[in-house]
Amino acid sequence: MRRIAILGSTGSIGRSTLSVAETYPDRFQIVALAAGANLDAAFEQACRWRPRVVSLAAENDAEILSSRLKKEGSGEIEVVYGAAGTVRAATHGEVDFVVSAIVGVAGLKATYEAVRAGKIVGLANKECLVAAGELITAEARKQGKPLLPIDSEHNAVHQCLRGGRMEEVERIWLTASGGPFLNRPRSQFAAITVEEALNHPTWRMGKRITIDSATLMNKGFEVIEACRLFHMPPQKVEVIVHPQSTIHSMVEFVDGSILAQFSVTDMRLPILYALTYPERIQSDMRFSVGDLRHLDFGPPDMNKFPCLHLAYQAAEAGGAKTVALNAADEVAVAAFLEGSIRFDEIPRVIEDVLSATNSGKLESIEKVLEADAEARRYAQKRVAKLRVTSTSFV
Ligand SMILES: NC(=O)c1ccc[n+]([C@@H]2O[C@H](COP(=O)([O-])OP(=O)(O)OC[C@H]3O[C@@H](n4cnc5c(N)ncnc54)[C@H](OP(=O)(O)O)[C@@H]3O)[C@@H](O)[C@H]2O)c1
Repeated sequence: MRRIAILGSTGSIGRSTLSVAETYPDRFQIVALAAGANLDAAFEQACRWRPRVVSLAAENDAEILSSRLKKEGSGEIEVVYGAAGTVRAATHGEVDFVVSAIVGVAGLKATYEAVRAGKIVGLANKECLVAAGELITAEARKQGKPLLPIDSEHNAVHQCLRGGRMEEVERIWLTASGGPFLNRPRSQFAAITVEEALNHPTWRMGKRITIDSATLMNKGFEVIEACRLFHMPPQKVEVIVHPQSTIHSMVEFVDGSILAQFSVTDMRLPILYALTYPERIQSDMRFSVGDLRHLDFGPPDMNKFPCLHLAYQAAEAGGAKTVALNAADEVAVAAFLEGSIRFDEIPRVIEDVLSATNSGKLESIEKVLEADAEARRYAQKRVAKLRVTSTSFV
């Protein structure tokens, strides 16, 4: 029986994880849930799963949740809040597996503490590895515990790597759907609306990752994630556009053999793989090979999607640059979603923040969080300046 904590239980990955747990009640027990602001969903999940502990982002929400649970006769569930509450959920003594699926750097501290507490971590949150991958992977090695990727591409790579030894790997191929604007000319990017950008062709996901998929920053993050998870230099991690998203990624070995993983586009499959690793268990998520017609592949256009180029640059520099990359993107995407900047201004904000950031190794999570805060402040200033410039022309 796996005893699970889900960080980000009310989100897309969190709900898919609960759906997997629902399908295999004899295998998985939900011990801890951590969510942000969705009080009603957290309440429903707590009533359904009866975990030992539930965490919410804000103290006030936690108080309301606690009294609602008492009224329901579930007063024994511990309710906590804030960053410390998420850490409490991630490190609870009865938990042995943590699904890290909070969006953004908000999930970093708890993910790191889970690894430090010797938990096995299933990683959906790629921002943790982008900002602090060196620290997290070093700690996992020290603990002798695996970090299991839930992100579909890295999960695919993890599966393919079981076909050879690390020293036999020539390169990793990360496939990219290309997002909704693969065939739209760059000259039209300034007019892209939030609704258009949120309409991903193959995956249904949270808002941040959907926008990141449209700018290809998501693929850039995945390059960094792959470098850190599989200890590869950036030049050995290649992105290839594959609009059907059928092949989730590939590993090329030194003898020229390429192993690819494909399956249905359903996040419950990589979640199940991580939760049951190193076993594989029966599921009904079948891919119809007979229906496969054609698969297209092509190189990404880094001029049209500068975020991918910026991510490769940050991956080469490492340390503070990748922290700044993630922080600037988080601020820029939020600004785009609230209508403050245009779609084509997202990479401009990130590029400016990267230029203003000194490269350098960050020795602790506290240093990472300081660098993150600094990059965020700078990004906010850039966004504010763009806002002024665009309104002054109205
Ligand atoms: N969705 C996918 O298919 C997919 C695939 C690969 C990787 N990922 C990665 O997985 C992560 C989650 O993605 P998602 O699509 O599931 O995002 P999402 O649907 O937006 O969910 C985000 C989750 O994080 C929680 N959260 C946000 N801020 C928080 C805070 N300060 N404290 C505690 N919890 C907080 C949210 O809680 P509330 O809703 O309660 O506010 C929600 O449960 C991201 O890093 C993403 O890049 C996602």
